Amino acid sequence: MRAAAMYPARKSLEIIPDFPEPKLASPTSVKLRVLKVGVCGTDREIASFQYGFPPPAGSEFLVMGHECLGEVIETGPDVQHLKPGDLAIPMVRRPCDHPECAPCRAGRQDFCITGDYKERGIKQLHGFLTEQIVDEALYMNPVPQVIRDVAVLVEPLTIAEKGLIQALEVQKRLPWGHEPKRAVVLGAGPVGLLGAMALRNSGFMVTVYSRDREPDPSADISKAIGAKYVSSQDATSDQLAAQVGNIDLVYEATGNSKFAFDVLKVLGTNGLFVLTGVPGKHPASEVDTDRIMGNMVLKNQCLLGTVNAGKDAFQTAVKDLTAFHARWPDAVKNLITGRFPLEKFAEPINKQTGIKNIVEIAQ
Ligand code: BGC
Ligand code: ZN
Repeated sequence: MRAAAMYPARKSLEIIPDFPEPKLASPTSVKLRVLKVGVCGTDREIASFQYGFPPPAGSEFLVMGHECLGEVIETGPDVQHLKPGDLAIPMVRRPCDHPECAPCRAGRQDFCITGDYKERGIKQLHGFLTEQIVDEALYMNPVPQVIRDVAVLVEPLTIAEKGLIQALEVQKRLPWGHEPKRAVVLGAGPVGLLGAMALRNSGFMVTVYSRDREPDPSADISKAIGAKYVSSQDATSDQLAAQVGNIDLVYEATGNSKFAFDVLKVLGTNGLFVLTGVPGKHPASEVDTDRIMGNMVLKNQCLLGTVNAGKDAFQTAVKDLTAFHARWPDAVKNLITGRFPLEKFAEPINKQTGIKNIVEIAQ
């Protein structure tokens, strides 16, 4: 079968025509026919050799792709919750094997402390840009057929869901039952817009703060879900804060550290700032540390980083995407702006265009 791979030694992206078909590996494993795979900034960084990890042991290539929607075609005899014909989204990260890693041993490899976790399509495990995959049922999340067309957005949504679950957990520190209400989303890419949908759906007033000026498709989606859209070319972070009022929550989805720390300056009283983007390497830049530290202390603020996602976030993402799709069908569909056949997988990886690009492998 075909697979789309990155060869680090020869720095190339290639289609492998005869990648071996996977077989069920245990009584609890599941085989999926891959339908769609989303492409994101992480793939772009891997393919431009900025965010690099070795391919699987003994392999000279890494099969790419970590945002996958598949259809179950075979299950081991001990698989309970999935059957052929079901749709499923595989999780990305697999635990390290150190007995002392409490998070991995507890099934929370998204908090792995040794750094020896693996990620399918990213770090030491082949990914999903191929025709069939096999994995343990434990890592497969069932998806309802009603969201078949857009379910490939579940994995990027899990980033927001984990951030939000953590944010609400942290804000339990405000002991009188304070509910954060005003959120600012940094960045209007898929992770930002899906986060904005999750925040709107949980009742937040949301302002999406991003670079591009209107008219802009991401601004249209923001407004369609009842969020405000502000271009950073038209308003400084101080002006943004004056418009929003007390900023209770910032959800960052740009990977632009300068932009993020500029907005950290205007986080509100008792506010929480959630960082999800992994920045590229740029020269160090100046930050107003006195203002930031002074605010963090005097306004009881919190800064939280979050990566990857656990089972809870995957389940919430499936439920929420189904709700978003019912509430804002066009806005959700409009997130997917480009569709490519497997043979052309390198195009959307090498060049970002539109909002979300996906590779369609089967219908
Ligand atoms: C993926 C995560 C992964 C992270 C770091 C993101 O693009 O969605 O699952 O943990 O990259 O590798
Ligand atoms: Zn991704």
